[in-house]
Amino acid sequence: MKAVVYKGPRDVVVIKVPDAKIEKATDVLVKITTTNICGSDLHMYEGRTNMEPGRIFGHENLGTVIEVGSAVDRVKLGDRVCMPFNISCGFCENCERGLTGFCLIANPGNAGAAYGFAGMGPYSGGQAELLRVPYADFNCLVLPPDAEEKENDYVMLSDIFPTGYHATELAGVQAGDSVVIYGAGPVGLMAAYSAIIKGASKVMVVDMHKDRLALAEKIGAIAVDDSDGSGVEQVMALTAGQGADRGCECVGYQCCDHKGHEVPNLTMNNLVKTVRPTGGIGVVGVFVPEDPHAKDKLAKQGQIAFDFGQFWIKGQHIGTGQANVKAYNRKLCKLIAEGKAKPSFIISHELPLDRAAEAYENFDARKEGWTKVVLKPGH
Ligand SMILES: NC(=O)c1ccc[n+]([C@@H]2O[C@H](COP(=O)([O-])OP(=O)(O)OC[C@H]3O[C@@H](n4cnc5c(N)ncnc54)[C@H](O)[C@@H]3O)[C@@H](O)[C@H]2O)c1
Ligand SMILES: [Zn+2]
Ligand SMILES: [Zn+2]
Repeated sequence: MKAVVYKGPRDVVVIKVPDAKIEKATDVLVKITTTNICGSDLHMYEGRTNMEPGRIFGHENLGTVIEVGSAVDRVKLGDRVCMPFNISCGFCENCERGLTGFCLIANPGNAGAAYGFAGMGPYSGGQAELLRVPYADFNCLVLPPDAEEKENDYVMLSDIFPTGYHATELAGVQAGDSVVIYGAGPVGLMAAYSAIIKGASKVMVVDMHKDRLALAEKIGAIAVDDSDGSGVEQVMALTAGQGADRGCECVGYQCCDHKGHEVPNLTMNNLVKTVRPTGGIGVVGVFVPEDPHAKDKLAKQGQIAFDFGQFWIKGQHIGTGQANVKAYNRKLCKLIAEGKAKPSFIISHELPLDRAAEAYENFDARKEGWTKVVLKPGH
């Protein structure tokens, strides 16, 4: 099969590799029809993780089941399925509680597994023609009859739509709340979309990229252009000096100042500044336990200088971590099926798998107009 293989920093190739196959009776094999590039792939692409060369990327996957393991009960040949990026067993202590992003079985010795991901188990990604799906009965979301027609919407259930929603859950967003979101990448836009679906009264999205901010405006959020570094003041002015009720971090450890220099503690401290006393903060942007290639001394050890005193005195609370996609994907699927949500609005490029290298390069450069790439292995 053809697959997107990581060779080293900023180097991916589409090459022939051995076909993915069923390895355990609880697996299914999926022929991938849509697979997305994610901001999480970029940390690996840039060589800022311990991703091993030779591995296949891709954790946002949708396709058709073409082979079913002998112990699979529910999922059938021909089903169109979307997989959470998390691989989870369904029966461990965390999975039982819905915390499938922290499965204790799928990646022994760690909490949490994923397809094509540094540090999250040996599983191959789905930026390929075929994908092996472990614990298939648990991990496959079988899609409704309009799966093909709305494929570009449903594929967002693999990660960013549930992840954006998770950010709002961690922050505690409820109807009527004002919400500030740092990052207008795919995840930030999905957090804004989720806050709007939940009935937030005011959603402010901070970024420096005008094309991304325009998408935030398109869904009814207020764009806060931080390209002159005035984002924090703008948010305070928009909230009568009080700060927002809730805040979401949708950037992660590679966040930058308005001049483009990495300042790993910037968004976290901006959240402390721009969320009101007793407000909630949800952090889904990725922070890593170590970042040897960081320029900052603390960041090398996965640490940031966090304004804990301000955070404490303001009585804020914070929630972090990988999204438990399965906790939300079925409900969000129904919103798509009923025409209440259309997350495909963020897609800028639909390309054949063969053009993955070019897609990575442009998306990584946050090049104007490259907001979200979906790859189509069948084309
Ligand atoms: N927790 C999870 O389960 C989960 C799932 C998916 C993605 N992620 C993470 O979410 C983050 C965002 O993903 P994405 O696909 O949207 O990535 P992205 O890199 O495309 O978007 C990040 C955006 O943040 C902006 N940004 C940079 N510095 C900023 C700052 N100081 N203030 C405001 N905006 C700033 C960038 O301009 C960019 O538009 C990444 O860290 C990704 O790894 C987490
Ligand atoms: Zn992703
Ligand atoms: Zn589990």
